[in-house]
Amino acid sequence: MVMPRSAPVGVFDSGIGGLTVAHEVIRQLPHESVLYFGDTARVPYGPKSPDTVRRYSREIAGFLRDQGVKSIVIACNTATAHALNVLRDEFDMPVIGVVEPGARAAVSVTTGGRIGVIGTVGTIKSGAYERAIRAINPDVFITARACPLFVPLVEEGWTSHEATRLIAREYLEPLVAADIDTLVLGCTHYPLLKPLLHEVLGPGVRLIDSAEETAAETARTLAGAQLAAAGDAKPAYRFVASDDPLQFLQLGQRFLGDTIEGVEIRTLG
Ligand code: DGL
Repeated sequence: MVMPRSAPVGVFDSGIGGLTVAHEVIRQLPHESVLYFGDTARVPYGPKSPDTVRRYSREIAGFLRDQGVKSIVIACNTATAHALNVLRDEFDMPVIGVVEPGARAAVSVTTGGRIGVIGTVGTIKSGAYERAIRAINPDVFITARACPLFVPLVEEGWTSHEATRLIAREYLEPLVAADIDTLVLGCTHYPLLKPLLHEVLGPGVRLIDSAEETAAETARTLAGAQLAAAGDAKPAYRFVASDDPLQFLQLGQRFLGDTIEGVEIRTLG
């Protein structure tokens, strides 16, 4: 079924981190309505098996489809790594993930062909970013590293804390040793660490924010599918979480940089 252009864009994540992507979608596509689903009852996805993440992602995509979205943006890097192809096969609408846009941006800005990738354990183990980068340019040198402690540190608000700086130095040591010139922030939470990562890596390393690239990719995809909202459309935003709306409201502000007026609760599975 073809959805009307006025239908919302569905954006989902394992929790609140995907609001960094929703924020960019709202900023870059000011006429699009957005329905955001954060699976706060089952977060984190990073350490979970690919099968489990695929099952969760299917359930969420089904919920978004039933709510009438015209396309789905998988804001979660781990869910993109494990479930993008499955959702593209099973859902009859454009499905956009965060890995391909991030990989494309990294390849286009690297000056010396030395790219670093950081993400959750699941994302790094999947090799999704490496595959996506090599598909564009097989000659780049890639160093990947899981940084699982970054997610709880960001949620704690410790984005410029000394403890986070120490951990970042430890995590990024192999990337510094590999002399990377570009770093892909392959996790929803990492854009909030940009100033600290710049400090640790030095000004010569370009940071790739998948959120910005994914919003741009969403704009191109909607336009290409004749699904972009009309230029005078007034957007509506809905936020749905699978647990604890209060925490979503409080933490969400940090990620969205904007006030969330209300959060609905919906249990899946
Ligand atoms: N949203 C996840 C990602 O981008 C990070 C949080 C989690 O582990 O669920 O990979």
